[in-house]
Amino acid sequence: MTTGGSKKGTACVTGGNGFVASALIKMLLERGYAVHATVRDPEATAKVAHLKSLQSLGDLKLFRADLKEEGSFDEAVAGCDYVFLIASPVDLTAEDPENDLIKPAIKGTLNALRSCSKAAVKRVVLMSSAAAVSGIRMEGEGGPLVIDEKSWTDIDYLYQEKPPTWGYLAAKTLTEKAAWEYSEDHKLDLIAVNPTLIVGPSIMPELPFSDRLALALVTGEELPTLGLKIMQKVSGSISFVHIEDVCRALIFLAETESASGRYVLSKVDSGLCDVAKLLSKRYPQYKITADLSDVPEKSRLSISSEKLSKAGFKFKYDKLEDIYDELVEQGKAKGVLPKTLAT
Ligand SMILES: NC(=O)c1ccc[n+]([C@@H]2O[C@H](COP(=O)([O-])OP(=O)(O)OC[C@H]3O[C@@H](n4cnc5c(N)ncnc54)[C@H](OP(=O)(O)O)[C@@H]3O)[C@@H](O)[C@H]2O)c1
Repeated sequence: MTTGGSKKGTACVTGGNGFVASALIKMLLERGYAVHATVRDPEATAKVAHLKSLQSLGDLKLFRADLKEEGSFDEAVAGCDYVFLIASPVDLTAEDPENDLIKPAIKGTLNALRSCSKAAVKRVVLMSSAAAVSGIRMEGEGGPLVIDEKSWTDIDYLYQEKPPTWGYLAAKTLTEKAAWEYSEDHKLDLIAVNPTLIVGPSIMPELPFSDRLALALVTGEELPTLGLKIMQKVSGSISFVHIEDVCRALIFLAETESASGRYVLSKVDSGLCDVAKLLSKRYPQYKITADLSDVPEKSRLSISSEKLSKAGFKFKYDKLEDIYDELVEQGKAKGVLPKTLAT
């Protein structure tokens, strides 16, 4: 084990200032790991302040690295036991998906994987997405269809039909496929995780976009509401997993020697109409104004994490009500929901 001064070892996390990565870094430090976090600009004070505040928890070093620059991750991954590849372009509204999302995601991930090979790290955990699993052509009625790690998003369907946000689905799918090919050719120990919508508290100053998506029906924010409707139409369900469970699973999969292949991370399957019903009953103070008449009433997919559960992982968050209670508090604290309502 490469200790870097820590008994647990050293882990590198890319895209350190983002929602998932910053939560993972916090958990790794709390568990006694030394952490190398990469960010595009360590001097961008406002963007890295929340990350730097974690230095009080343990041995956290920041490194500059950009997916677009070959060799950029060499220094950050050197001496690491585990590398968590979390950074990725995530712009769902990219005007030129091929050049803004797909090519940079694939090229950047291969670039980071080459750095991992050079450093001979023990294991790489790649943050893929349920978007690489569940983007399939859905015809007719019926369901829900159970989707797990054996399923791959249908790239031909994406390129033929170009459903909204297709570029993100294609980027995650093609990046994961390229990573598998690389790991087989170069004998690199790789795990991929495929989470559904990740929600929950964040140390970022702003509410993360995925929390804004989840809260869109009560905040009424236009872009996240559209995103949520698209998610229901394209993915056939709205499925959730809590950020704490995602970070626990990422570390569990790095540390569990017998782990291999892909792991879907998802705990609560729902549909937009059911979410709307739950929210109006539980938080009647927030009026839902979104028009859901064009959204299918029933979910078409059920996203299964059975493989992870069978490996011995236990999810902590399995009730949508609890997840939303916490999200609503987050929304109030971060100013997207009013703290009190005018009467
Ligand atoms: N949130 C979800 O619901 C969800 C679900 C499934 C999978 N995922 C995956 O989880 C990962 C993190 O997502 P997130 O929700 O935490 O999003 P996020 O907060 O926007 O984080 C994305 C991170 O990627 C970094 N990044 C983007 N382009 C980069 C580049 N060219 N070079 C280096 N870093 C770059 C960003 O850096 P800057 O801050 O400098 O822009 C940011 O730190 C992504 O791979 C995403 O696809 C997320």
